Amino acid sequence: MSGGDMLDFEIRPNPAPVSAADRAALLANPGFGRVFTDHMVTIRYAEGKGWYDARLEARAPIPMDPAAAVLHYAQEIFEGLKAYRTGDAVTMFRPEANAARFNASARRLAMPELPEQTFVESLRSLVEIDQAWIPEHEDASLYLRPFMFASEVFLGVRPANEYLYCVIASPAGAYFAGGVKPVTVWVSPDYTRAAPGGTGAAKCGGNYAASLAAQAEAIEAGCDQVVFLDAVQRRYVDELGGMNVFFVYDDGSIVTPPLGGTILPGITRDAILALAAEAGHEVREGPVSFADWQADAASGRLREVFACGTAAVITPIGGVRFPDGEFLIGGGEPGRTTMALRQTLVDIQRGRAADPHGWVTRVL
Ligand SMILES: Cc1ncc(COP(=O)(O)O)c(C=O)c1O
Repeated sequence: MSGGDMLDFEIRPNPAPVSAADRAALLANPGFGRVFTDHMVTIRYAEGKGWYDARLEARAPIPMDPAAAVLHYAQEIFEGLKAYRTGDAVTMFRPEANAARFNASARRLAMPELPEQTFVESLRSLVEIDQAWIPEHEDASLYLRPFMFASEVFLGVRPANEYLYCVIASPAGAYFAGGVKPVTVWVSPDYTRAAPGGTGAAKCGGNYAASLAAQAEAIEAGCDQVVFLDAVQRRYVDELGGMNVFFVYDDGSIVTPPLGGTILPGITRDAILALAAEAGHEVREGPVSFADWQADAASGRLREVFACGTAAVITPIGGVRFPDGEFLIGGGEPGRTTMALRQTLVDIQRGRAADPHGWVTRVL
């Protein structure tokens, strides 16, 4: 079956799920990315056959031949989004946007596209069978990780002819347990993340592998996250290792680096562009140089800087370090505009505020 046809999922419930008592213990403090639910989705693809063998089954290791193409040439893409408990309902934030970005990543990595409907249904069915794993705490969520990799057993350098799509789910605790805390970022002098014409706009594992040495440098410098500058002139801010970035000025205007193929088109970024405009801010997608960042922080024209992404929604950036020095933004405290935008977005995501854009999808 291929094209837009909806695949039927064969459901094979886990014969030995985690007990209710053990699950409760795990959900008490799940942290991030270490606890997993009882099930997973798998769908296979073969050239000429299309997508087939869609299953909802017990989460288990995936047997892999040592010559599987992904292990050699890294044809792998992924997504990340959350399911929330909203009263009696279970919701997701813009899953169709993740589906579209997944397919954009697939095109860039020369992989097959998955029908958006199948992508969203794969998430919905996993959340349904594992709904007991959605933490009750109001700031917690069930993190969903759809991914796809080249499974063909072949060592030639060309797009593979076989792929496996898979979804796993991981309960996640509140990101900021003790209240929202500003982070300090490291401006990497040596490393870049993505060059024009490269894979920066795709959510492929290789981008993250390439960012780890820079992130390690950030940690060594006592920072939380790395900020990447553009790869050509090394002047303009692109994004963080795993988040987009926004700048808030004293006249109320807000600027974020433009999507030009080197940064990930964040779904949180896109929502903030709309919400900030609706809140009366002048909003612009435009280049911000590191030199201006420094100068405007020093003059006080730059009031706030924040990072955004699915994991933490909005994170204030309180300090910036680079090899020649460091500076604070807004005295290192979370800014008013940052926190107001954060509240607006979180309230929509959690069903506490109206959703005029239709971003929240009820899945159960
Ligand atoms: C490199 C990078 N930039 C930005 C983002 C933010 O994207 P989103 O808002 O869709 O989560 C992510 C992922 O969360 C990311 O990995």
